[in-house]
Parts: sequence; structure tokens; C-alpha cells
Amino acid sequence: MSISPFAPKPHTPFQWAGQLPRGEMARRNQELERQLRRLTRVLDRARAARPVTRTNTGFMSADSYQAIMAQRPAIMRASVGIDYAQYTTGVLAFDYERLLADTGYDIDATHKVQRATAVGDTPLVELHNITELVRAVAPPGKGARLFVKDEAANPSGSFKDRRASLSVHEAVKRGYPGVAAATSGNYGAAVASQAAKAGLGCIVVQEAFDSQAIAQPEIAEKTRACEAYGAEVIRLSVGPEQFYVFLCVLRDTGYFNASLYTPYSILGIETLGHELAVQTREQAGRFPDLVIATHAGGGNVTGTARGLAAAGAGDSCMVGASVDLAGLHMASDHDFNRKSFTTGHSGFSMPFTTWPDRADVPRNAARPLRYLDRFVTVSQGEVFYITQVLAELEGLERGPAGNTSLAAAFVLAQELDRERIIVVQETEYTGAGKHPIAQLNLARRMGVAVTRGDPRDDRPGARIVIPEQPAQLRVVDVDLDHVRRSYLRNALASLPEHAQLSDIDIEFLAAETRGGCAFVEETIDELQAEAG
Ligand SMILES: Cc1ncc(COP(=O)(O)O)c(C=O)c1O
Repeated sequence: MSISPFAPKPHTPFQWAGQLPRGEMARRNQELERQLRRLTRVLDRARAARPVTRTNTGFMSADSYQAIMAQRPAIMRASVGIDYAQYTTGVLAFDYERLLADTGYDIDATHKVQRATAVGDTPLVELHNITELVRAVAPPGKGARLFVKDEAANPSGSFKDRRASLSVHEAVKRGYPGVAAATSGNYGAAVASQAAKAGLGCIVVQEAFDSQAIAQPEIAEKTRACEAYGAEVIRLSVGPEQFYVFLCVLRDTGYFNASLYTPYSILGIETLGHELAVQTREQAGRFPDLVIATHAGGGNVTGTARGLAAAGAGDSCMVGASVDLAGLHMASDHDFNRKSFTTGHSGFSMPFTTWPDRADVPRNAARPLRYLDRFVTVSQGEVFYITQVLAELEGLERGPAGNTSLAAAFVLAQELDRERIIVVQETEYTGAGKHPIAQLNLARRMGVAVTRGDPRDDRPGARIVIPEQPAQLRVVDVDLDHVRRSYLRNALASLPEHAQLSDIDIEFLAAETRGGCAFVEETIDELQAEAG
């Protein structure tokens, strides 16, 4: 349940100032309370002048899982405002480009919406000192220049503001009373921040803790951020009910579904790819050779690659990087707190890359396999290590999510000649719950060993190994052909009984996997032969 910032507080903000003389402290408190009362009156008047409903649902829906799932198509249509059925062109195929185009937002329109709420136009920073460190460990002549797009400069501290901006703008335009999102990460704060500015209600449904009520520190921090922005947060323990609860919320409130996977969310990220291409050319005289994005649900890779192409930088190599959490199960109560990262890890990126349509909207606009040129993983310990390197060498305390791609960039820069340019496509803000110490303390509490040594010895859920020196960092390449095959296996499994794939479906699958029609047909034959 959220607490309004204007409700009476159990403590006053000047309580910390114990050093002040008693009378002075009381005077300051009175002054502050007077100011808050005045601000409350101003806000109340502003709200009364604007017909905006702020609901507090108290979330009381009592319908069964089956009853809510049966209403799913109707709830989706009402809450996203998109008739997905009209984009269906085959058994599997749908007109992906038209789905995006019909929103009416091109890069210029998106920039305009984002500038109105101070989203985007973040700095591109050259990491001179880390580049020097790369060159100290790279073979002679190698060591590309490293840049980072400082997305922490967005209002709620991450690139997720770009995603939230168009959804909230669209919700206002269509007269929805509020927005809702199912997310435990930065996106909740982004939606809450944008909703606060637009004067809309906001509900965030989080998977926040395990069955022992032990919270992930990073998620607990997001709860506080969402509530600070005035959102109502529904916190759940790990399990399958998040989607059910989310559907209930959408149905009971009539709020807009600000899903991470709508076309609005993906188009919002295109400005990031576009800006970084333009800024790199301005600062370094050319487009980046390689852009690397921390990869989970796939929107980051998708939107960035599309934005690069729109800027004329479609030849830049698009790399996705995830923290390797192989062996840990995302929906497992046991594993929930044994992972030290809540996003940007293989537990999300593998299932979403091999089957994007597992999302909370009928068709997912994030389709990373269409855009990935290379996909690598790094270990948890390597990300903690580079987080400290970024702070100590560049004076930037950021992360953890963006530092997943920075850890990979540190290694990939050693493969490229010195005049080449790598852009790490984001940072995120850091805070107490996101700090390595908070995550490492939780890991120890959960029985995960934390040691220094060779990161090859890292074992998700059992041992976090923080490198002892920079030359120990490495990446592991994910076999994209293997991923394509898994995608096609999932596509076949999703087919209704007796359904036949048409040429349109084959062409769609070829675009999805970037494998060509012959590859798709051959692989499907092989998979069907394997299945007997
Ligand atoms: C800061 C940050 N970077 C990267 C990602 C990964 O983005 P995506 O899920 O679109 O792949 C997330 C998503 O949770 C994030 O919060």
C-alpha cells in the first residue's frame, strides 16, 4: 500500500539533524510543515482543475484463476487499446512492422514526447581510463575506444523511462485513468515517475520476495521508489500468480496496460539507439563499430538496433550481453534469492529470445533474435568487478544492469583494433539496494560462497568468484544457431493441432530468426523427424 507524500508522517524530515539546537530544530520543522501544507493545497487545487482519478484499488478481486484467464483476451483489448488480431497474417505470422507503424510514433514524434518529461538526450561519455586498462591487457595494436551512454541521467535513473514515456503519453491521450505494469525492476519506477508527472494513477505488481519473506534488496529499493512517486505497489512472493493478479488489476481499475512489450515500449527505446549513433558520430567522427546492450526480455536490444538503423548506423554490430545464471530457475522459490542480479541475466534472455510471445500482451514487440549479431554471457563476479572498475577509474558509480554489457565490452574491445569504437549502450543509477555489497551480503546469507579468483570457477547459486585482475575477464559466446533452432522448436510446439504453415509463416520465421527460408524449412524438417 502506498503512503501519500502529503499524509502526516510518523517522523519529520529534520529529525536527522540532531546537532541543531532544540529551538532551531522545532522552528525548521514548523517551517517545513507549513510549506508542505501550502504545497498540498496547491496540488489539490491543480487536481481538482484536472479531471484525473487516482484510485486506490486495495486489490480485492476474488475471481478464480480460470475465470480471469477466460477473460484474458477481453482484458487485453480493453487495457492495451490494440486489436492484435488485425495484425495476424498466418498461423504464426503477424505483421510486425505494421503493428509498430500504426502507433503513429516515428523517432521525431517519440523524441518530442520524451523531451516534454526530460527523458532522453543523455550524455555519451568516453571511458578514457578503462580504454587504457583494456590496452594494458590486450594484444599489441588492439583495444577499441570505449564509450558509455549515461542513461542514469533519465528522471528515474534508467533507460526504462524511455519505455514508460510513450505508454503514459498514450494512456493520457486515450483518457485512461491510470497505468499498470507487472515488473519488479526499474520499469516500475519509470512508469510511476511518468505517471506522477502526468497526474495519472499507477499500480505496479511486483514479485518481491521468497516464501520466507526475504526480499531481493534491489526489488525492495524499487518498491520504495515506486511508492515515492505515489504508485500503489502490490508485492507478491515468487510464483505463477503475478500475471493473474495483473489481469485482475487491469480489469478492476480500467487502467492502461503499460506492458514492457507493447509497440509503445519498444518505440520508446529507439531514440536511445538513434541518439547514441548521432552522438558517436559527433564526438568520434563515425558511427560505432559495435554497440553492446544488456539483454533480458529483449526490448533493449530490439529498440536500440531499430534506432541505430533509423540513424543510418544499421551496420554497427549489435551485441547482447547477459549474466550467466545457467541452472537457476526464475520461477523457483529456492533460487529466487540465490541470484545476485534481478535482470540482464540468462534466466530471462534465453526464454525470451527463443520465444518472445511469452509476454503479458498477445504479441511481443520485442523480438531480439531479429537484431542480434552476437550474444555473449559474463559471470556474476565479472560484473561486480567491472562495477568497481567503473567507479574507481571513471568516477561513475552505476549499475548493476548496464555493467553487464560493460564487462563484456571490456573483453570485446581487446578483439578490436585501437581505432574501432564500442558503445556500451546504457548505465543505470545505483542505490543502496543495487549496490554490490547489498547483493553480496544476501548471497552469503543464502549460502552462496563469495571468493576472489578465476571467474571460470563461478557457479550460479553456489559460488560467486570476483576476478583478481582485469586479464581474467572473458565472454562466453552463445551459439545463435542453437538459439534459432530452439526458437523454431518453440514455434512448432505453439501450433494448434493440424495447423499447416503457409509461405507467409515460413517468411515470418525466416525474418524472426534471420536464417532465411531454406534454413527454416530444413530445421523444421529436422525437428519433425526428431520428434518422430
Ligand atoms: C537497467 C536495465 N538494463 C537492461 C535491462 C534489460 O532490458 P530488456 O529486458 O529489454 O532486455 C533492464 C531490464 O530489466 C534494465 O532495467
